[in-house]
Amino acid sequence: MDLEVTGKKALILGGSRGIGWYTAQLLANEGCTVGLCARGAEGVEQAVASLKEQSGNDGHYGAAADLSDGAATRRFVSDAISALGGVDMLIHNASGFGDGSEEGWERSFQVDMMAGVRAVEEALPALKESSAASITFVGSMASKFYFGNRSSYGPAKAAMRAYANELAQEFGRDGIRANVISPGAVWFPGGSWDQRKQQMPDFYAKVEKRIPLGRLGTGEELGRIISFVASPAGMWINAAHIVADGGQVAAVD
Ligand SMILES: NC(=O)c1ccc[n+]([C@@H]2O[C@H](COP(=O)([O-])OP(=O)(O)OC[C@H]3O[C@@H](n4cnc5c(N)ncnc54)[C@H](OP(=O)(O)O)[C@@H]3O)[C@@H](O)[C@H]2O)c1
Repeated sequence: MDLEVTGKKALILGGSRGIGWYTAQLLANEGCTVGLCARGAEGVEQAVASLKEQSGNDGHYGAAADLSDGAATRRFVSDAISALGGVDMLIHNASGFGDGSEEGWERSFQVDMMAGVRAVEEALPALKESSAASITFVGSMASKFYFGNRSSYGPAKAAMRAYANELAQEFGRDGIRANVISPGAVWFPGGSWDQRKQQMPDFYAKVEKRIPLGRLGTGEELGRIISFVASPAGMWINAAHIVADGGQVAAVD
């Protein structure tokens, strides 16, 4: 199946490592031009250089930006749209991974929620110009099950789901889709579950055993799901919350 992303443009907020990076590589290798940001300038530089080398396309763009900073978020989106000459797919992948502290709630609110709101506002005029516009948020299964410690993480991801529906209902007539994809536990080298695997092997083994497919998801698998939903191939998916957890959360919906 062709994702139909050749010549399309994607912005990935939080794209230098992990799930965002797997998504960036997949889209770039399918012919899409990618603009990405992360806080670490070195990570961004390496990611953009690697995308250019992998895809043979010199148009990929990156900039260091902290998504908890409203002005920096808006600047990145606006600069990236100028550099790419538009945007078709806006993907908000980064999380503040907030805990239950006041600082954690603030980080969750700014990074998971407000960075998405600000990025959408900045990107809307360009998205309205696109013939294949989509907004995709990377959520979490923590938005629907008890996560513990009265953490801000799940509630922020739940707010994201309500916001995506607002966008989908309001901007569908402009040809803009909006969806949330919620991963369960995802393993990739250097990621948070890789660290748990090394530091808490018993806990990791218990989580793995509880997942019906007998393992954690991979970065590549999430990259494929995100890319499909964001791409024109996922056209009829709109206002949806998509569970991508291998059956980890034992619930009907
Ligand atoms: N991994 C899982 O098991 C899992 C499970 C459920 C949901 N998710 C969701 O999937 C998404 C990606 O998770 P991940 O595990 O791939 O994360 P990750 O490995 O920590 O990568 C996050 C990416 O976002 C960037 N980033 C983080 N905070 C940022 C900020 N404030 N401003 C700009 N960029 C920022 C990071 O680069 P810098 O550090 O350089 O900024 C990096 O490129 C998150 O929304 C997470 O909630 C993940």
